[in-house]
Amino acid sequence: MRVAVIGAGVIGLSTAQSIYEQYHSVVSQLTIEVYADRFTPLTTSDGAAGFWQPYLYDKGNIQETKWNKETFDYLLSCLSSPESIKMGVFLQSGYNLFTEPAQDPSFKDIVLGFRQLTERELQMFPGYTYGWFNTALMVEGKTYLPWLMDWLQKRGVKFYHRKIASFKELSETGADVIINCTGIRSGDLQPDPDLKPGRGQILKVDAPWLKHWILTHDLNTGVYNSPYIIPGSRHVTVGGVFQVGNWSEQNSSIDHKKIWEEACQLEPSLKHARIMEDWSGLRPVRSKVRLERQIIPSGATSIEVIHNYGHGGYGLTIHRGCAQEAGRLFGQIVEEKGKGPKARL
Ligand SMILES: Cc1cc2nc3c(=O)[nH]c(=O)nc-3n(C[C@H](O)[C@H](O)[C@H](O)COP(=O)(O)OP(=O)(O)OC[C@H]3O[C@@H](n4cnc5c(N)ncnc54)[C@H](O)[C@@H]3O)c2cc1C
Ligand SMILES: *[C@@H]1O[C@H](CO)[C@@H](O)[C@H](O)[C@H]1NC(C)=O
Ligand SMILES: *[C@@H]1O[C@H](CO)[C@@H](O)[C@H](O)[C@H]1NC(C)=O
Ligand SMILES: *[C@@H]1O[C@H](CO)[C@@H](O)[C@H](O)[C@H]1NC(C)=O
Repeated sequence: MRVAVIGAGVIGLSTAQSIYEQYHSVVSQLTIEVYADRFTPLTTSDGAAGFWQPYLYDKGNIQETKWNKETFDYLLSCLSSPESIKMGVFLQSGYNLFTEPAQDPSFKDIVLGFRQLTERELQMFPGYTYGWFNTALMVEGKTYLPWLMDWLQKRGVKFYHRKIASFKELSETGADVIINCTGIRSGDLQPDPDLKPGRGQILKVDAPWLKHWILTHDLNTGVYNSPYIIPGSRHVTVGGVFQVGNWSEQNSSIDHKKIWEEACQLEPSLKHARIMEDWSGLRPVRSKVRLERQIIPSGATSIEVIHNYGHGGYGLTIHRGCAQEAGRLFGQIVEEKGKGPKARL
């Protein structure tokens, strides 16, 4: 059985990993191939801060809250192994700040030690009158993606640097199942009006004295449009903007100025930090993640596709839960095609 995964961001690579973990000993001659026109360090997943936190509210989409939790629990369990640092996974605590009282978030019981801020803590952040403190996780794409690629390569997964123009092109090479993990760039594969770019720009700065993340929330301007500061293993990520509909991956000097001034107001010591670089990327924004099977007719036959895209500003936060679910969908196809253990009897 041949599986072709399109996309080598966190979603494509972790989906390939879950399929391997769940089926390599079940399906005889399982071949997994990954096709992408961008590999690490050039994907959106590499540029992201790698902070584990979903949007504040799931608005009834408890399925995504479950996938977020599955990812948090998986990453937390990785901490018991020395491998965790090679994966780019580590714990980090910090603050969510508001200018007005807010309802508890959907991730309240997923993170560690969630609590409301005290008056003394709030005094450290002039202008903010409400907030939470908790411990969360980091999973840094620039480390995690090379680790995943290495993991897959060691198990015989092959990588192809190539832009895929049509699904037919892959099925003609003999792929039985195609996994669509293409993030924002649908190309001409098949338009999806629900998928939009949410342009982000961040600054990477050298400020090793900062140990806590600080995220501010403005319930009027929406998510990630107000200042945030996220220390990483090497640099501190400072943001941000969230411009829905903007396809530009260029850095903007206007955004740079706004981000920097607002962040220095929030954390005055940043004035002494050196700005290392700017980075702009496109979040694959969708009303919800598209994770489902589709059978696409192609001439006399049909192509089995599993979609796994549209993870917005929380792709690293939700990746493992989605990868495991894509693995289960793959299992349905295996059963239907009779390529599982029964076929070998
Ligand atoms: C500024 C910013 C900060 C962020 N911070 C965080 C954060 O702290 N935490 C978090 O959880 N999320 C964060 N995100 C969101 C996160 O980056 C995304 O949700 C995630 O990277 C999406 O992963 P992906 O694998 O779907 O897409 P990508 O990483 O974009 O990968 C897509 C892959 O598909 C390939 N591809 C696409 N089309 C084709 C084609 N036709 N042929 C061949 N290959 C193709 C690409 O080459 C690439 O390999 C942030 C995003 C931005 C922009
Ligand atoms: C594959 O995913 C992209 C999003 O990256 C989407 O626009 C496209 O419709 C999907 N392809 C198919 C055949 O549905
Ligand atoms: C889109 O981003 C570019 C920078 O890459 C910027 O110049 C432009 O003003 C932005 N457009 C909108 C509508 O925000
Ligand atoms: C954004 O700026 C960084 C340097 O800070 C540069 O490396 C990168 O290429 C720029 N991006 C674009 C698309 O020009």
